Amino acid sequence: MKGAVFIALGDMVSEAHGLNTWLSLLDEVCDDGVYTATMNYDDERLYRLVEAICSRLKVDASDALKSFGEYLFAALHKSAPIFADSKTTFLDFVESIGSVIHIEVYKLDEKARPPKITVLERTENSADLRYESDRKLCYLAEGLLKGAAGHYGVEVSVSQTQCMHEGADSCVLRITQNG
Ligand code: HEM
Repeated sequence: MKGAVFIALGDMVSEAHGLNTWLSLLDEVCDDGVYTATMNYDDERLYRLVEAICSRLKVDASDALKSFGEYLFAALHKSAPIFADSKTTFLDFVESIGSVIHIEVYKLDEKARPPKITVLERTENSADLRYESDRKLCYLAEGLLKGAAGHYGVEVSVSQTQCMHEGADSCVLRITQNG
């Protein structure tokens, strides 16, 4: 996973709980905490950190990943504002995640492994997205979508009609824009 993701995780924990909490979590999982945004790091390091955060702060992994996704959106947007700037509406932006954004990520670095996100259905105020990734970070995707909705100033609900964590072979995220 890209260093940018680890950096955002450290920033979020440090802002909410202090730098010392982040440093002691890194220490707990024997991680040196040295990340460069554009470099790729072993996914296991991310999983170990998320697990340590959840047990230290007594939160579920699904809730932690949703909150982190919301935070991460701002960091990703900051690094590449063009993607959201070039789409006027939230749902048009959503349609471009798999067909434009993650394709560009892969073009820049073939070692990057963004998830496969496909639009199954789109209406004026809703979209169904299929999420496929062996990382099974669908809750992170839910949070990212919430973060993106916040960026566009729209209220959305995001739920899953099927989920890999419940035995499905892919997740389907249903996004409904309220008003
Ligand atoms: C709401 C919008 C977005 C959603 C739902 C989304 C979803 C995700 C998810 C769930 C991951 C974790 C990896 C995995 O699941 O296998 C990921 C990774 C990533 N995404 Fe997105 N993403 C969004 C927007 C963006 C934007 C705006 C960028 C800007 C460049 C971006 C760039 C990346 C990068 C660089 C990775 C790391 C890939 C890797 O290290 O292998 N994403 N995305």
